[in-house]
Amino acid sequence: MEKTLVVANWKEYKNISEAKRWVEVFGKRVNKGINIVVCPSFVLIPPLHSSFIIHNSSFSLGAQDVSKFEEGPYTGGVSARQLADFVSYVIVGHSERRRHFGETDEDVRLKIEQCFGYELTPIVCVSNLEQVSRYQSVKVSGEIIFAFEPLFAVGSGQPDTPENAQDFAKKVGRQILYGGSVNSENVKSFVDQPDIRGVLVGQASLDPAEFARICYEVR
Ligand code: PGA
Repeated sequence: MEKTLVVANWKEYKNISEAKRWVEVFGKRVNKGINIVVCPSFVLIPPLHSSFIIHNSSFSLGAQDVSKFEEGPYTGGVSARQLADFVSYVIVGHSERRRHFGETDEDVRLKIEQCFGYELTPIVCVSNLEQVSRYQSVKVSGEIIFAFEPLFAVGSGQPDTPENAQDFAKKVGRQILYGGSVNSENVKSFVDQPDIRGVLVGQASLDPAEFARICYEVR
């Protein structure tokens, strides 16, 4: 059976000293029985990569996004090839990327392909079944991890019910992550569902003690 996967999405929070402090506090409490992926802003990835190697190889790093282009004159872009030296996972198609940066389903599809080209595992955020079938049609040369993130639940403090998340997973036909207002109080109710393989955590991942409690609850 796959280890439970707990993903921290730091969004546009933390500078390098805050990030290193987080690693120091959380690192002491790490739970080796689960798979933990921390997704910081791009600029934090290389320095954290160095400190993870030195202090804590049981963490993996992920990115919050990737360019849809392989390489070229795309100012501000960060490619899968560049990321592959540092991370194993990439969050793709987050609803905040769609809402604030105009990302489309076609962009998401191209980003998934970029991930596959460089052996990165895409964690693809979806809020409905149409998106799942659209992305499932990407030529599969690797694993897609779907994260069900209902729009109303992201960043609202109002999670969906574990039963709804389980129902969504059943319809997808395989195990998925759940994301949206997960915290240490409710995380167990989600991962106890047979087809919820783990969680994607935003706000509650910013505090290392709270994130450690989440990881403890799912062990
Ligand atoms: P939240 O964010 O935990 O703050 O709701 C989840 C996410 O954006 O992935």
